[in-house]
Amino acid sequence: MIEMTLREIADVVGGTLHDVADPEVRVTGAVEFDSRRIGSGDLFLALPGERSDGHDYAGAAIAAGAVAVLAARPVGVPAIVVAPNRGGVPSTSVALSHDADGSGAAVLAALAALARASVSRLVAAGGLTVVGVTGSSGKTSTKDLLAAVLAPLGTVVAPPGSFNNELGHPWTALRADAGTRFLVLEMSARGPGHIAALAEVAPPGIGVVLNVGTAHLGEFGSREAIAKTKGELVEALPPTGLAVLNADDPQVAAMATRTSARVVTVGQAATADVRATDIRLDDQARAEFTVHTPAGSAKVRLAVHGEHHVGNALSAIAVALECGADLDTVVAALSGARAASARRMDVRTTADGITVVNDSYNANPDSVRAALKALVSMARAAETPRRSWAVLGEMGELGEESVIEHDAIGRLAVRLDVSRVVVVGTGRPARALHQGAVMEGSWGEESVIVPDIAAAIALLEQEVAPGDVVLVKASKSVGLWEVAEHLTDPSAVAARGGAVNNGVGQDTEAAG
Ligand SMILES: Nc1ncnc2c1ncn2[C@@H]1O[C@H](COP(=O)(O)OP(=O)(O)O)[C@@H](O)[C@H]1O
Ligand SMILES: [Mg+2]
Repeated sequence: MIEMTLREIADVVGGTLHDVADPEVRVTGAVEFDSRRIGSGDLFLALPGERSDGHDYAGAAIAAGAVAVLAARPVGVPAIVVAPNRGGVPSTSVALSHDADGSGAAVLAALAALARASVSRLVAAGGLTVVGVTGSSGKTSTKDLLAAVLAPLGTVVAPPGSFNNELGHPWTALRADAGTRFLVLEMSARGPGHIAALAEVAPPGIGVVLNVGTAHLGEFGSREAIAKTKGELVEALPPTGLAVLNADDPQVAAMATRTSARVVTVGQAATADVRATDIRLDDQARAEFTVHTPAGSAKVRLAVHGEHHVGNALSAIAVALECGADLDTVVAALSGARAASARRMDVRTTADGITVVNDSYNANPDSVRAALKALVSMARAAETPRRSWAVLGEMGELGEESVIEHDAIGRLAVRLDVSRVVVVGTGRPARALHQGAVMEGSWGEESVIVPDIAAAIALLEQEVAPGDVVLVKASKSVGLWEVAEHLTDPSAVAARGGAVNNGVGQDTEAAG
């Protein structure tokens, strides 16, 4: 964050100073909620947690170098104290599971106010550009691509993984300081007004809208409602700002009328300002294409897997060019950009020749379709076509559409000619997925349903053979990564008679 005195911070968050000897003392470091991460000059954020209360660690944080604590009650060490928010946290809160007296909500509100003050001043000073990314699928992937293409232009701050909730969003925004050139933020919504609220915390100058799909359809009720909320991002842009819109998604393209910012469109549509043609996928489903931009054309080769990343990459290219990058540098940065966030289209081939596509981080109908297409294109790209397996668990949060959407995925898997579908689960959606595949199939072996992860692993261990490609995908709550991690686990590979030989798309960061 920008350097601020304790008095200034108290003003910004509407708090009072307690046990502070000198209100002019400055916070020169970061804002941290984990006392173990506190360093000299930091501000410690006291939040209630499931097992412990951050207020109990106030002393430890000061001992570790914190200048003060942002808290909901006096803690006996220098603190900026905000009054508990008795109204409590909004029901949408995912950051706070235990906040009986509203103290967590108050501290988070103070954090948001602090982030807004810091970011606004950095933007006003002309040094910082905030790039917001929203869409039903691809926010984290695009955030990672953006971080890669913007890095040659200056210091980039972006959240680790998907850390973009009411805590992660302002916490990330506060990591931007006077030396930061770009702040890239993922903006996701579970209801109307959420993106507008995130944009308040860190006002974006550039807004990227990727797509309007069916993620969280249950909460929103309709695609139109989702489009309305995603569009809050472009509505928040200033007239001097830039909206990057997907020309291939009619609901995104229509957002052009909802912003006073300049609009740049991306996509495969002939009208797109930044356009991809001649898309081809290699045997790892990595896309190669020609990009046409106002700054010229170039060949792009992506290191991430799946055709859906073409659109994500076009958005990243558009932003980087607008920020002054030259096309060759952007293309070079893209070719080196791997999935920085874990369990997203992470492709590995074991020594016994089984390729595992671990896309188990999360799932919605759009991302499952994209992953199935990548799976079959990988299987088909080989000289001798490989067998393809789709190990699928339930997609959550689809509301009334759930059964229909699961049925449609089962049918699509068979239409795409996936060799074997393994459905994991016992619920109605899982059965609908299996039934959809059975109904669409012809010889009865297209799909099997197993009750749990252990049964899926047992089946795969018995039937998967060298050369097969196995996609693993479900909503996060299913925890289906265990299947992928088992298949590539060195001891499991050894038991089958081999050893892991490479790790294409290795992830370095835990998903948040
Ligand atoms: N543009 C896209 N369209 C459809 N699916 C996508 C797109 N970009 C990424 N995906 C897939 O969606 C899933 C979630 O990707 P991620 O980047 O984490 O999105 P988000 O952060 O929006 O949830 C992954 O399976 C990924 O491969
Ligand atoms: Mg995400």
